[in-house]
Amino acid sequence: MEQCYQTSLGKHKERIKPAASRESSTSPLARAMDLKVLCALSVTLLVALSTLAEGIAPPTKCQCKVVPRERTNCGYPGISAAECRKIGCCFNASVPSVPWCYNPKPKKVRKVCPNDPYTRINCGHPGIKPRECTRKGCCFRAHPAGVPWCFYHRVVEEGNVPQEMSPVSL
Ligand SMILES: *[C@@H]1O[C@H](CO)[C@@H](O)[C@H](O)[C@H]1NC(C)=O
Repeated sequence: MEQCYQTSLGKHKERIKPAASRESSTSPLARAMDLKVLCALSVTLLVALSTLAEGIAPPTKCQCKVVPRERTNCGYPGISAAECRKIGCCFNASVPSVPWCYNPKPKKVRKVCPNDPYTRINCGHPGIKPRECTRKGCCFRAHPAGVPWCFYHRVVEEGNVPQEMSPVSL
C-alpha cells in the first residue's frame, strides 16, 4: 500500500512508502521533539499551576520587556493574546520567529527597612557595631531604646513599597 501526502503537485504526485514514514517518525530527532514538547507542556502546566496558586496577577509591562531572542515559550501553540495574558504570560507578535506568548521576567524586588521600631526582628546581638550589622545585610538604627538596633529588612515588590518602609541604604 502506498500513501500520497501531497496532492497539489498534479502529475508528479510524491509517494512515500509507509515503512519510510514510520522510520522517520521514530528517528532520534522525532523522539527529541516529542520529549521537547512534553517538557514544554509540563513546564507550561507548572507555570499555570503556580500562577493559579498565586492568584493570577497579570505581568507588568516592565516584566514583559524581554529581548526577542530571550523569550521562552509560555502557553500552547496558537494561543490567543487574551488567553496568554490570562495565564500570566506576555504576548507580543511583532517578531515572527520567536515565541509570541512568553514568560515574563521575575518581579523586581527591593530590600527595605521597616520604619516601625516595634516590628523589628533582631538580626544582631547586643552591642553589635553598625558596620558588622550592615555587612550581614541588615538594617541598623541606633534608636529607640528597648528594641533591636540591628534588624532584618523586608523584601517588597518594586513600585509597591509600603509607606512604613524605607529603602535599605548600605
Ligand atoms: C514587542 O517586541 C518588540 C521587539 O522587542 C518591541 O520593539 C515592541 O515594543 C514590543 N511591543 C509591545 C507592545 O510591547
